[in-house]
Amino acid sequence: MTTAQDAARELFTSLTDRDPDGVWSAPGRVNLIGEHTDYNEGFVLPFAIPHRTVAAVGLRDDSRIRVASTFTDETVEVGIDELDGLFPTLRQAQGPSGEATPGVPEWAAYPLGVAWALQLAAPEGAFRGVDIAIASDVPVGAGLSSSAAIEGATATALNDLWHTDLDRTALARVGRRAENEAVGAPTGIMDQMASMLGEPDAAIFLDCRTLEAQLVPVGIAEAGLAILVMDTRVKHAHSTGGYGERRAACERGAAIMGASSLRDVSVADLGRAEELMDDVTFRRVRHVVTENQRVLDTVRVLREQGARAIGDLLVASHASMRDDFEISVPELDTAVEAALAAGALGARMTGGGFGGAAIALIEQDAVAPVSDAVTAAFAAAGFTAPHLFTVTPSAGAHRDA
Ligand code: GLA
Repeated sequence: MTTAQDAARELFTSLTDRDPDGVWSAPGRVNLIGEHTDYNEGFVLPFAIPHRTVAAVGLRDDSRIRVASTFTDETVEVGIDELDGLFPTLRQAQGPSGEATPGVPEWAAYPLGVAWALQLAAPEGAFRGVDIAIASDVPVGAGLSSSAAIEGATATALNDLWHTDLDRTALARVGRRAENEAVGAPTGIMDQMASMLGEPDAAIFLDCRTLEAQLVPVGIAEAGLAILVMDTRVKHAHSTGGYGERRAACERGAAIMGASSLRDVSVADLGRAEELMDDVTFRRVRHVVTENQRVLDTVRVLREQGARAIGDLLVASHASMRDDFEISVPELDTAVEAALAAGALGARMTGGGFGGAAIALIEQDAVAPVSDAVTAAFAAAGFTAPHLFTVTPSAGAHRDA
């Protein structure tokens, strides 16, 4: 049993004086390539990581939902029939800082938002009160989708206990709705799909327009390689500022091109785009359009030549995010540059940006020297020491016990 499983069970028992009816968990994710393409109906290639969020859950005799988490001493309790009123109120009460309304702390908006969205998605379910205890070993604010992991663990648990019988894609949609409408972060669906569909040794090649997903074997370990996560410890939140602005710029760019989304704009259209729009909007568009192409290229190269050959695509993706989409920060650039200088085959920031983590594709026997080089570069720049660890593609959400 993992530490998070033990912690969730213990918290459940201390809350209720009984054992949970079950334990469910869902992973965080790393995105190999395809950033800010999901809400543009484009392509992404994430994989689930071994770090998971665990929900120990038990049915109650009434119709109240109580949530507790090892992150905090507070518990939050609401009636199932109050959920509908709660989230519109919560959204209106959110200030520009993204802080949740008093009474519903932001952490509780994830599981309660999932309960709310699940009811709306499957109104025929057998809704009963539940106690939910959450513990996690997914680093928070590191760009590794700790939020999708909470959503995935809660959605999988409630889907079983409430007999709502939704499939994994529908549960991913429930998670995204909770994040968009209950938490107020205007994110796409990549993280929830990765957390739901992950499989060992495979990345998920997802078409975010159709939600058609293909598992692509990555063969990283077979090739003698490793993926190093370099968590900069610079925290980010997508319910505020930059993420939404980027999204708005993409929508503006698509409208100028007469397209319903940037999915329908190709690399060949970029010359015309440059003539039609201001420089900032054009560079946002160019990132998304070229990033979609890089995802397609990465899938092809992985299939034809293997993981060793994708390094340059990762490097090009980082440059595009740094220069055109402008979502990198000095710590992310330092991590990427130091890893490459120490021999990484490729490296890029991963996730929404403005902080969080970068990944590097490295030789298995280079984990220590690359880690040392990145740590030294952070120290030389006066940055907080990074958190460095390797990940392998892992299983998606499931019932553990
Ligand atoms: C965050 C969002 C995702 C996606 C990425 C950027 O992780 O949750 O939907 O937009 O940023 O690729």
